[in-house]
Amino acid sequence: MKKLKVGVIFGGISSEHDVSIVSGTSVISNLDKEKYNITPIYISEDGKWYVCTKPVEQIKILNIGETIKEKRIIENIEETLKNLDVIFPVLHGIGGEDGSIQGILEMFNVPYVGCGILASCVGMDKVYTKIIFDKANIKQAKYEYIKKYNNKYIYIDKKMNQETQELKEICKKIDSNLKYPMFVKPSNSGSSVGITKVEKIEELEKAIEYASKYDKKILIEQELIGREVECAVLGNEEVISSCVGEIKPSEEFYSYDAKYNNSESKVIIPADLPKEMSNEIRNQAIKAFKAIDGKGLSRVDFFANEKTGEIWINEINTLPGFTQISMYPKLFENVGIPYKVLLNKLIELALEK
Ligand SMILES: Nc1ncnc2c1ncn2[C@@H]1O[C@H](COP(=O)(O)OP(=O)(O)O)[C@@H](O)[C@H]1O
Ligand SMILES: [Mg+2]
Repeated sequence: MKKLKVGVIFGGISSEHDVSIVSGTSVISNLDKEKYNITPIYISEDGKWYVCTKPVEQIKILNIGETIKEKRIIENIEETLKNLDVIFPVLHGIGGEDGSIQGILEMFNVPYVGCGILASCVGMDKVYTKIIFDKANIKQAKYEYIKKYNNKYIYIDKKMNQETQELKEICKKIDSNLKYPMFVKPSNSGSSVGITKVEKIEELEKAIEYASKYDKKILIEQELIGREVECAVLGNEEVISSCVGEIKPSEEFYSYDAKYNNSESKVIIPADLPKEMSNEIRNQAIKAFKAIDGKGLSRVDFFANEKTGEIWINEINTLPGFTQISMYPKLFENVGIPYKVLLNKLIELALEK
C-alpha cells in the first residue's frame, strides 16, 4: 500500500515556540513509519520555514530549550505543502493555533488535523471565546474587556459600546464591577504568558500595562475558586470526550514556570471527582467544542468546586500540548486510546473533514 504523505509543522513564531518543538518531535517520533511518509517542517521564531534533513527515524523527542539543527530552508512553501496528503500543525499560540496556518492550508487545499479557521481564531482569543460561551450559556468567570489603541485605553461594555478613558478611570470601574483576586490576561496569548494575578486596585494598572505588551485586547477576570480540571475531546461531528484530569500547580497559579520549569506541578488522571461532576464536565467540554465549531481535537479547561457542585469553563485549547506526557494524550490514554492510536485517529478525522 502506498504510504500517506504526512507533514508535521512545528516551532512557530509564538511565545510557545519551544513547547511546540517538544510536541512536534513527540508526534514525529510516534507516527507509524510503516504507514506514513513523514515530512517534518520546522518554522523558526523569526518565521522561516525549513525541512528537517535528519532521517525521520532518527529524530528524537527534544526537550524545552533544544532546537532543530539539521535543516534546509524551504524555497517554495506552496509546492512543499501541496505535495503532502495531510498536515499535522503542531503549533501552539499565535501563527499556529489562531487560524493563520489553517488559512494557508485552506488556500492550498491541503487537509489538516484539528480545528478550522473560525474555531481556531475564537479559541485563541480569550475575549471572543467568552462571548461565544456566554451565548451557549456555559458558566464562566465574570469579566471585563478593554483595548489599547495609540497608547490610550478603550473600555468595552457588555453591549460592545466602546469609550476611550483614562486607565485610572477604567481601573476604578473594574474595581467596582469585579471582586479580587482578579486575573489580567492578554486576550491572545498562551502558556500563561502576560498573565498577572491582582489582589488590589493598586496592582491593576501595572497588570493591564504588562498584558498590553502581548496583545492590544485585555481581559480581566474574577477569580474562580475550585480545582483546575481538564477534559479532552476528539471528533468532527461525532465527538467523544476523555476522562477528566486535574492539575495541581506548584505555584500560586498555573504560570509558565509552573507549567514547564517546575517538576512539582502535578497532574492527576482521572481526577478524583464525584461521577456526576465528571460527567457534567465531559458534556460541557463537548458542548463548548461544538459551540466554537471545533473539529478534530481540543482540550477544554474548567474549574470545579466540589463543595458547591459548580463548574465553570476557563478556556478551550484547539492545539493543546502534544508531548507524550501532555494532558491531552494522557487523558485519552487513560480511556484506552494510546498516543500512537490517537495520532492515527486524528489523521483519519483530518481526511474525513
Ligand atoms: N479566573 C481565574 N480564576 C482562577 N485562576 C485562574 C483564572 N484565570 C486563570 N487562572 C490561572 O492562570 C492560569 C493561566 O490562565 P489561562 O486562562 O488558562 O491562560 P493560558 O491560555 O495562558 O493557559 C490558569 O491555568 C489558572 O491557574
Ligand atoms: Mg490555560
